[in-house]
Amino acid sequence: MIGIFDSGIGGLRVVKEVFEKLPLYKVIYFGDLARSPYGTKSPKTVIRFSRQIAHFLVQKGAQVIIIACNTASAHAAEVLKKEFSIPIFEVITPAVKKAIQKTKNQKVGLIGTWSTIESQAYQKSFKRFDPEGKIQLFAQACPLFVPLVEENFIHRPETKKIARYYLRALKHQGIDTLILGCTHYSLLKKVIQNVMGKKVELIDSTEVVDDILAEMAQKNLLSQLNKGFGHQFYFSDVPRNLEVLSQRFLGQKLSHLKQIDLDEVL
Ligand code: DGL
Repeated sequence: MIGIFDSGIGGLRVVKEVFEKLPLYKVIYFGDLARSPYGTKSPKTVIRFSRQIAHFLVQKGAQVIIIACNTASAHAAEVLKKEFSIPIFEVITPAVKKAIQKTKNQKVGLIGTWSTIESQAYQKSFKRFDPEGKIQLFAQACPLFVPLVEENFIHRPETKKIARYYLRALKHQGIDTLILGCTHYSLLKKVIQNVMGKKVELIDSTEVVDDILAEMAQKNLLSQLNKGFGHQFYFSDVPRNLEVLSQRFLGQKLSHLKQIDLDEVL
């Protein structure tokens, strides 16, 4: 079973991709809606929440875990890789590799939550895959994008204005590649593309499943995973708009959702 987790609903974008690319495999998802957003939280808290979720997923039978949340990937991936015996995948490494492949002028932009940007996780990953430091990385936190997406302000003029404000400096730097380093930004792609112009290549950190699957195949993991239907979705809170949000992020309405209090079940 493939375990996937996120601070809330954004990780459903990754689930959507897994459903498309691996339709025969079982998925178990945990969205930490009771404690989201993670993007404003301290590293210590994000690590604590992520560790708890990973324990829950393993207890439920996850054989691998994909951390769909950028903020959790930034702070907790290394910790979880050390503490858990099952393979753990995150979304930062594949996004960085893609950006390095795509950029022609060696100027890459990164947008994400405060917590992701301040973690320097992307910067460290660039150092690893571009050791000579040929690429310049320009980072910008865009904290209002998450609530705008959740309130469905996607096509509103206010959102365009805010996008222009956030992206102004990156545009000025002349980047040719922009990493959308947050689950929610995937839904703002059109707006971001409009502001940045057609020539800037957008790398969506929720569209990295191909790379994760390639790594799984290389490590001979796929053949060991359980196949079958009956995906499981768990949330630490089931707010009134969850059905609507799941439609927006996953492309299908999730109903009969299970609310889980991790403090009670672990
Ligand atoms: N899932 C988070 C991320 O990708 C965004 C939402 C939040 O701040 O919790 O960073």
